[in-house]
Amino acid sequence: MCSLASFLAIEGTNFGTILASKPKSLSSSSMMSSQAHLNCKMHFYPRKRAGVSVAVSVSVSASVEIDGGNSMPVSGLVFQPFEEVKNEAFVAPVAPQVSIARQRFTDECEAAINEQINVEYNNSYVYHAMFAYFDRDNIALKGLAKFFKDSSEEERTHAEMLMEYQNMRGGRVKLHSIMNPPSEFDNAEKGDALYAMELALSLEKLTNEKLLSLHKVADRCNDPQLADFIESKFLDEQVEAIKKISDYVSQLRRVGKGHGVWHFDQSLLLEGEAAV
Ligand SMILES: [Fe+2]
Ligand SMILES: [Fe+2]
Repeated sequence: MCSLASFLAIEGTNFGTILASKPKSLSSSSMMSSQAHLNCKMHFYPRKRAGVSVAVSVSVSASVEIDGGNSMPVSGLVFQPFEEVKNEAFVAPVAPQVSIARQRFTDECEAAINEQINVEYNNSYVYHAMFAYFDRDNIALKGLAKFFKDSSEEERTHAEMLMEYQNMRGGRVKLHSIMNPPSEFDNAEKGDALYAMELALSLEKLTNEKLLSLHKVADRCNDPQLADFIESKFLDEQVEAIKKISDYVSQLRRVGKGHGVWHFDQSLLLEGEAAV
């Protein structure tokens, strides 16, 4: 530890020269360094009358460790890019099956993105099943059919955004299996519209949990770029979707199962509400 206060607390000791050189992390989000080292060299000279030691000189130097173990100074030297790029961390791989762009992208983040792609596809599949249900001739709630069709496409867009991001970082998209959704959404107590909308709300809340888990993985792997991608492209949209569907659930609870549902459906159709 490099703490002046901790040394001063021990009065009357003849400290002489104390060298504290334990590595200390400077920044967990540095894009260039895997570890940073802070070296503090302190010289203490005890004062006889006061009985308290006073530091008269402190020198500090910092260095960063680049992938591969080479330690590079971060201050006091002219930046020498053509020397630094010789580090193997910056050399483009030649093996055809290996990504050229990949840098500081962990297997854990790659796997977590593939999991989220699966979640988005599942949502898309369920919403598509709801579209098919409400579009039937004996159901004929065209506003709900349109809303769930748009929502299904929106979820597929989310999956595609994650795929493009995976490729951008040099990961590999792996699609997992998706469960077949129900084809019937009628419910004797709630009616089909409210039942489907409550199911949609549950799905969106679950998706929010999954996104927060993905964000945690990005944090744990020290990947601020992935964390920023999730925050800027997904988290806002997700809480807005939860609010919108919650409103719909409240409205459907008010109108009951009969004529009111037809009015609700017409309002969705006329207003052209955006998908969730
Ligand atoms: Fe989504
Ligand atoms: Fe959604």
